[in-house]
Amino acid sequence: MQKVKVDYSKYLKETFRVMKESGLLLTSVNKEGKINVMTIGWGTIGIIWGMPMFLVLVRPSRFTYSFIEETGDFTVNVPSERLREAVSFCGSVSGRDYDKFKEKNLTPLPGKGVKSPMIAECIFHYECKVLHRNDIIPARVPENVSGEFYPQGDYHRIFFGRIISTFSDNKVKIE
Ligand SMILES: Cc1cc2nc3c(=O)[nH]c(=O)nc-3n(C[C@H](O)[C@H](O)[C@H](O)COP(=O)(O)O)c2cc1C
Repeated sequence: MQKVKVDYSKYLKETFRVMKESGLLLTSVNKEGKINVMTIGWGTIGIIWGMPMFLVLVRPSRFTYSFIEETGDFTVNVPSERLREAVSFCGSVSGRDYDKFKEKNLTPLPGKGVKSPMIAECIFHYECKVLHRNDIIPARVPENVSGEFYPQGDYHRIFFGRIISTFSDNKVKIE
């Protein structure tokens, strides 16, 4: 499917719906050129310093974490309903143990403005360059939130990804 450039705000509603219901696919690459994909359920899109930004939260324990640190970019890909099983797989096993692209027949498409690839089978794609990072401060997190989401520590790092381009399938079909 051919990809066309669209405004970053064109599919916000759909992006948030899929992020909440099943998860989005974040890709990254390390300095040796190895690619990886993980599922994310937390993140937000907004304007910071006058630029469109995708903020994603990644725990230090994720293989992805060091990839983003090494190359400073990532893509966020919105899967269609058909990829639900792949999304669940990419959110439950690590790239340390599996080549998730191969296992789930996901096709990496070279990024246009970033080193991280897009995923051909997804329907929208955000290419993001890390402009800033910030760690969750344990002492500032309400106790009940810490208890529920951080029983082992592993507090997220928030990567501020400047959205440099957004693409969609030529013929998007919202399922
Ligand atoms: C629906 C769903 C949402 C997830 N959201 C996040 C997230 O926002 N941040 C995060 O660090 N891990 C999240 N995870 C967990 C990672 O996707 C999972 O640990 C994955 O195996 C990490 O892959 P990696 O080690 O190859 O980077 C989520 C998992 C699922 C199933």
